[in-house]
Amino acid sequence: MVQINPSMLSADFSRLAEEAKAVEGADWLHLDVMDNHFVPNLTLGLPVVESLRKATSIPLDCHLMIEDPDRWAPRYAEAGAGSVTFHVEAAAAPVRLAREIRRLGARAAMALNPATPIEPYEDLLPELDMVLVMTVEPGFGGQPFLDVTLPKIRRTRRLIERHGLPLWLQVDGGVSLETIERCAEAGADVFVAGSAVYGAEDPAAAVRGLRERASGAVARATAR
Ligand code: DX5
Ligand code: ZN
Repeated sequence: MVQINPSMLSADFSRLAEEAKAVEGADWLHLDVMDNHFVPNLTLGLPVVESLRKATSIPLDCHLMIEDPDRWAPRYAEAGAGSVTFHVEAAAAPVRLAREIRRLGARAAMALNPATPIEPYEDLLPELDMVLVMTVEPGFGGQPFLDVTLPKIRRTRRLIERHGLPLWLQVDGGVSLETIERCAEAGADVFVAGSAVYGAEDPAAAVRGLRERASGAVARATAR
């Protein structure tokens, strides 16, 4: 099943509750937490997640681009995030961390930067609910999609299938009407889109458009 997660990084930060309502029909709200250390940008943290959780019924997908996720990621699960994604490049003990996130009732996800391979982490897949393959270098919205990441999306999908696991495969960065089909054909099923949704005249219609494109590509890929 295709899921579309608008990234609020491209929303108006002074009106987050309204911006959440503007994407009615979205599967998750993607919240980019940046600490100005793991990435060269600073966004939002726990207080905003706690407030937004009360202001919307759409579940929250927290993408932590921060140092020391071992310390901070469980706090996002406690704050009510439905899914918590840590970067494996920053995690000291990813297995312990994934187990802790799940114990606190959230889905546990592991993110890979464009240059980080999936293969060293194959044995971790059963500990996870989702893998995020970054399709831009993390830190900013509105960057062009990196086609160089497509082979890794394919390899990750194959590993998930080989192990017979129910993992979701998310892509994030430069996802648009123009690039989403390539991601879907490569095996992604959860699509984060910031500028393609919030930069559109009608964000809810943009979500529907992306879902239609991705679903069409999945249907064609499975028919082959
Ligand atoms: C980038 C963030 C993304 C970002 C995507 O580091 O992780 O979630 O908001 O924005 P677009 O879709 O504009 O590339
Ligand atoms: Zn993100």
